[in-house]
Amino acid sequence: MTKILPILLCLFCINAVANDMFANADVKAGKALVEKNCISCHASSYGGDGSGIYTREYPKVKTSKGLVAQVRSCNTMLGLKWFEDEELNVAAYLNQTYYKFEK
Ligand code: HEC
Repeated sequence: MTKILPILLCLFCINAVANDMFANADVKAGKALVEKNCISCHASSYGGDGSGIYTREYPKVKTSKGLVAQVRSCNTMLGLKWFEDEELNVAAYLNQTYYKFEK
């Protein structure tokens, strides 16, 4: 049961995300997380604050769902152990600041 619960919660989140992606996200908290964890690498390839990676001509990410997925895989790759809501905060910040996806 203890193993099933996170999966159920996760499904619930994905559902909530599909309905209204970033409605409850904390953009400020997301910004702080990005500044702390996500800049160094992007900056070394794109210079400045690294945000060029989000605004490059052919961005990898094309929808807010894709954005959440990308944030999630970076989280996993880096072993940051962010929770679902932290991933959403980060994705919401990146969306509001750079991507501006409507859905
Ligand atoms: C170890 C280096 C590294 C770190 C640290 C890193 N990234 Fe990345 N990130 C990359 C690379 C390399 C790419 C380009 C991947 C590609 O083109 O397939 C990328 C691409 C991305 C993209 C997609 C850009 C696009 O084209 O639209 C997003 C979003 C992103 N990273 C978010 C994050 C977030 C959020 C964090 C912090 C949790 C983070 N990254 C930390 C290396 C890193």
